[in-house]
Amino acid sequence: MSDRITLQVARYRPEKASEPFVQSYDVPCPRDWVILDGLNYVKDRLDGTLSYRWSCRMGICGSCGMMVNGEPKLTCATFLSEYGSGPIRVEPLRNFPVIRDLIVDIGDFMRKLVRVKPWIVRAPTEEERPLSDGEYRQTPQELDEFKQFSMCINCMLCYAACPIYGLDPHFIGPAAIALAQRYNLDSRDAGSQERMEILSEHDGIWGCTFVGECTKVCPKHVDPAGAIQRYKLTAAVATMKSFFAPRGA
Ligand code: SF4
Ligand code: FES
Repeated sequence: MSDRITLQVARYRPEKASEPFVQSYDVPCPRDWVILDGLNYVKDRLDGTLSYRWSCRMGICGSCGMMVNGEPKLTCATFLSEYGSGPIRVEPLRNFPVIRDLIVDIGDFMRKLVRVKPWIVRAPTEEERPLSDGEYRQTPQELDEFKQFSMCINCMLCYAACPIYGLDPHFIGPAAIALAQRYNLDSRDAGSQERMEILSEHDGIWGCTFVGECTKVCPKHVDPAGAIQRYKLTAAVATMKSFFAPRGA
């Protein structure tokens, strides 16, 4: 393996040029360097104008997602050495508007997360529960029901991988549906009906054709595709039950 590698980085500087362009940088390639180390080397030593997001450098904050040789990746968890002698193409996350260089606009994603009411909705009878009644306890089995969906770090890789979202930006998308399931399956929550009304809309769960790319690229094994299929089943059963329920029930 060479001790240097070329990063071909997508640049977009709207104040200078209307079109994006590619700029190549030669960076060191030690075994323990990830793509983000290469970008930081560029920023610190070669070109301080390069713009990109990152924070934790340990796969937790979800801010460093980019396309690496055409695949959505967390750049802090993807080693330069995985790409042999290179070159490595680094681009902004697909399916999102680009603001500058490798930075995308996350506004649409954030609005979609909020739409599914990502908080514990109390049952009306519980709202008056006095604090003196103590905390809400859960068994390990109850925790297991939703824990997988609570591991999401909002990195948006699943949206970059989703062909449906690419074609129809109104589709609410994989992480928002997985987030809804995180609360629906929580034994303390009573908001599943409210979420179902949102997710049963035209741009909700039925938009998904189960391509499954979201689950393949998820760095936290959240399995959003599984969440969507499970949600579809719940919605179908609820609809069937409503057919057989007595009128007015
Ligand atoms: S479901 Fe996975 S890929 Fe999608 S935002 Fe959450 S952690 Fe990222
Ligand atoms: S920098 Fe936080 S997940 Fe990569």
